[in-house]
Amino acid sequence: MSLVDKAFDVNEFREEGHALVEMLSRHFEGALSGENDRVFSWKDPDEQYAYWADQPQGRPTLDFFQDFLDRSLHMHNPRYMGHQAAMTAGTAALAGFLGDALNNLPSVYEMGGAGVALERLVVERTAKVMGFGPDSGGFLTSGGSLGNLTALLCARANMSACSEVWVEGTQQQFAVMVSEQAHYCVDRAVRIMGWGSPGVIKIPSDANYAMRTDLLERYYEEARAAGKTVVAVIGSACSTATGSYDDLEEIAAFCRQQQLWFHVDGAHGVPVVFSDKYRHLVQGLQQADSVVMDFHKSMMVPALATAVIFKNGQTRYRTFAQKASYLWRSDNAEEWFHPSRASFETSKPSISLKVWSLWQKFGDALFAEYIERTYDNARLFARLVKADLEFSLPVEPASNIVCFRYLQPGKSERALDVLNQQIREALMNDGRFFLVRTELRGRTFLRVTLMNPFTAEQDLLDLLAAVKEWGQKLSPTCRERALARGA
Ligand SMILES: Cc1ncc(COP(=O)(O)O)c(C=O)c1O
Repeated sequence: MSLVDKAFDVNEFREEGHALVEMLSRHFEGALSGENDRVFSWKDPDEQYAYWADQPQGRPTLDFFQDFLDRSLHMHNPRYMGHQAAMTAGTAALAGFLGDALNNLPSVYEMGGAGVALERLVVERTAKVMGFGPDSGGFLTSGGSLGNLTALLCARANMSACSEVWVEGTQQQFAVMVSEQAHYCVDRAVRIMGWGSPGVIKIPSDANYAMRTDLLERYYEEARAAGKTVVAVIGSACSTATGSYDDLEEIAAFCRQQQLWFHVDGAHGVPVVFSDKYRHLVQGLQQADSVVMDFHKSMMVPALATAVIFKNGQTRYRTFAQKASYLWRSDNAEEWFHPSRASFETSKPSISLKVWSLWQKFGDALFAEYIERTYDNARLFARLVKADLEFSLPVEPASNIVCFRYLQPGKSERALDVLNQQIREALMNDGRFFLVRTELRGRTFLRVTLMNPFTAEQDLLDLLAAVKEWGQKLSPTCRERALARGA
C-alpha cells in the first residue's frame, strides 16, 4: 500500500477512532471521579521539547495519543482552577472532531453550506439572548482577541471621523477609552490599527477593579485638548485579572452623549445573559454597538469559538471594503451567506457546529446552569477565604474569578509577594491543583477561575489547606521554627 493510500485507510481510521473515544472516556471518568488525582505533571519546557523531538517516526498512533493525553492538563479534574479555558462538554468535542474530519470551510456558502446556516442560527440566537433586536447581526471567529480587533476595525469604518482611513490612511491621532483592567488584546488591537500608545486611553479602576466611569468625561476632554479623536469606549464584561464588570449602562450613556462607538469585550463574562440570577451584571449590554463573547471560555465549547455581534448587523459589512470576485459576487449586495465578507478570517473551521451541537441538544438552560454553578462556587470560595485569618480577599468576586493572598504575621508586603509566588510554583510542581497568580496594584495574589462545575466545597477547602501547607514549608513562622527545633 502506498503511504497516501495508507493515510486514507478507512479501516484503520475506524479502529483508531473507536480506541481514541474509549481512551478519552476513561480519561474523563478518571478526572471527574477524582480517581486520577493529578491535574497535571509539570515538565520543564526544554525537557518537554526534547521528549517529543526524540520520538521515532512511524510510532503507532494510539501510543502517541495516549502519551499526549498523559502529558496534558486534565481540565476535567475538579481541581483545575487555572486559566479561563472551557472544560469541554463531550458533545461539543465530538462536533469539533466531525468538523475537522470534513474540513468544510464556512467562509463562503459553497464551501460550508450547513456550517454557514448554523452560523447564522448561532449568531441570531446569541444576539437575541443578549437583548438585541432583529436588525442585529454578526459572525463567528477564532478567538476573543481577533474578535475585539475586528469589532474595533468595524468601529473605525463606521465612525465618520475615521471612515476614510481604510482608503487613505491617516496622520490623525485616533484613540479608544478603556479600563486599565482590560485584557491586553485591546491594547494590541489599537496598536495593530496604527494608533500606537497614545491610541489607548486607560481609565483608572475603582475599589472593585471596575472602570471609574465618573472619569470618562474628564479623560475625554483631556484627549480632545491633546488633539486626539476618540472613536470608541470599550467596556469589560468582565475583566481578566479580577473578573470585574464595568458599568455598561454608564458607558452606554456616555457614548450616546458623545456619539462614540460602544464596544463590549465580553469574552469571558457575557454568557451570564443566560442566567436569570446573574444577567444583571451586564445590564445595558443591548445598547452596545458591538459585543465579543467566547464560547470556549464560559460555555464548555472547545477553542476557538467566538461570536462578534453588532447591534446594527449592516455595520459589519463596512469593515473590509474589498472585492473578491472568486468568493462572492459583489461587495454591496448583502449576501449574508458569505461570513468572510465581514470577518478577518478567510478559511476558518466549523465553529458553529461545535456551538450548535450543544445548544440544540440542551437549550439555553444548560448555559444558565453552568454559569450559576461556577459563579456560585466563586462566592462560596470567597466566604471560605474570608473566614480564614491566614488569607485576604482583595475584592468580592463578581464572576467565577477569585483572587486571594496567603498571609503570615510579621511579614512585609514584599515578602508576602515573593511567598505567594513561590506557593504558586510549588503547587504547579506538586500537580494536585492548578491555579494562577496575578498582580493587583503592585501586589502578588493567587487567582482561581472556577471553570469546572464539578469543583466541590471540599476541593476548595483542600486548596486552601494546600496553600497553607506550602506557605508554612516555604516560610516557617518563628513558632514553627521553634517547634521543628524541638523547643
Ligand atoms: C476579557 C478578555 N478578553 C479577551 C480575551 C482574549 O480571548 P482569546 O483568548 O479568545 O483570544 C481574554 C482571554 O482571557 C479575556 O479574558
